[in-house]
Amino acid sequence: YRRPVTVTVTGAAGQISYALLFRIASGDLLGPDTPVRLNLLEVPAALAATDGVAMELEDCAFPLLRSVEITDDPMVAFDGCSVGLLVGARPRGKGMERSDLLEANGAIFGPQGAAINTVAADDVRLLVVGNPANTNALITRANAPDVPADRFTSMMRLDHNRAVARLAGHLGVGSGEVRRMAVWGNHSSTQYPDLTHAEVDGAGVVDRLDPTWVRKDFIPTVAGRGSAIIDARGASSAASAANAAVDQVREWYDGTEGDDWTSAGIVSDGAYGIPEGLVCSVPVRATGVGYDVVRDLDVDPFSRERIEATVAELVAERDAVRAAGLIR
Ligand code: NAI
Repeated sequence: YRRPVTVTVTGAAGQISYALLFRIASGDLLGPDTPVRLNLLEVPAALAATDGVAMELEDCAFPLLRSVEITDDPMVAFDGCSVGLLVGARPRGKGMERSDLLEANGAIFGPQGAAINTVAADDVRLLVVGNPANTNALITRANAPDVPADRFTSMMRLDHNRAVARLAGHLGVGSGEVRRMAVWGNHSSTQYPDLTHAEVDGAGVVDRLDPTWVRKDFIPTVAGRGSAIIDARGASSAASAANAAVDQVREWYDGTEGDDWTSAGIVSDGAYGIPEGLVCSVPVRATGVGYDVVRDLDVDPFSRERIEATVAELVAERDAVRAAGLIR
């Protein structure tokens, strides 16, 4: 066995965590040789429920699970943290203004960023799941200035997986055969699932697809999948979101297979004209150490327009949190 790794999960009593924690503890996240210490962060009102989850974790007798710590203090939760999964967030309530939503999330991710800056391990990597995920990642980073920019990601893997599954279903192939999918921009309805470079069996597929299907079915179905699941289930995606978090973090450590790529929200370095510093989804290759943006893609005029629209939404979110004094 390697030495135990501290994994911090926020929103530990929530729906996603109820699927996620068991995957982490069973070894799905960091592999079968890495023991895990779980640090669970919740609000005071949910600590009792978190205790219940911890009892269930104990009852699984996972060989890799070394300890479970429950706290409402970010300074305790992020102490020694190497992997931070920031799931807990303030959902948008009925009649809630956007500015209220951003401020409520600033009050969550600001202090968590500050704690990460002070007490997390030097090798910390962070995945922000709680919505608005990209902008919450931006706030977290602004409050953790000593942590390198490439340690912050927002979760776009669920959107990516949805796009892969939708294309595979349409073509009647296994989802494992789809490569080079890309989802650009915000984890919101403006996201751009882009299959212009997607391949099955090493060959491009876009020429085989009806452009009307791509624009009127594929793109809106992938981008609207979150709402469709809420309508059908009466609750937002949880198991698939947990699965995507596991996929994204595992690939971040293990590296992307061959010359394939994936989609992740990362701190922009200006590639593809995306403003520097914005946390925005782009096609990336995981190297094991970090992410390399796939830089050399042709962007056709339709794609350009869609990318600009979703980036404009991220810029508006950034400007709003800046105006609220949550970032500089
Ligand atoms: P949930 O409401 O079941 O759980 C959220 C938990 O976070 C609650 O237990 C709450 O007490 C906790 N929490 C709130 N403030 C906290 C704080 N300051 N510190 C620690 N915990 C705190 O929600 P669910 O279904 O688990 O979803 C969590 C988040 O993930 C939501 O924001 C949701 O919109 C987002 N999401 C993101 C996806 C993505 O693809 N990026 C996909 C699906 C959901």
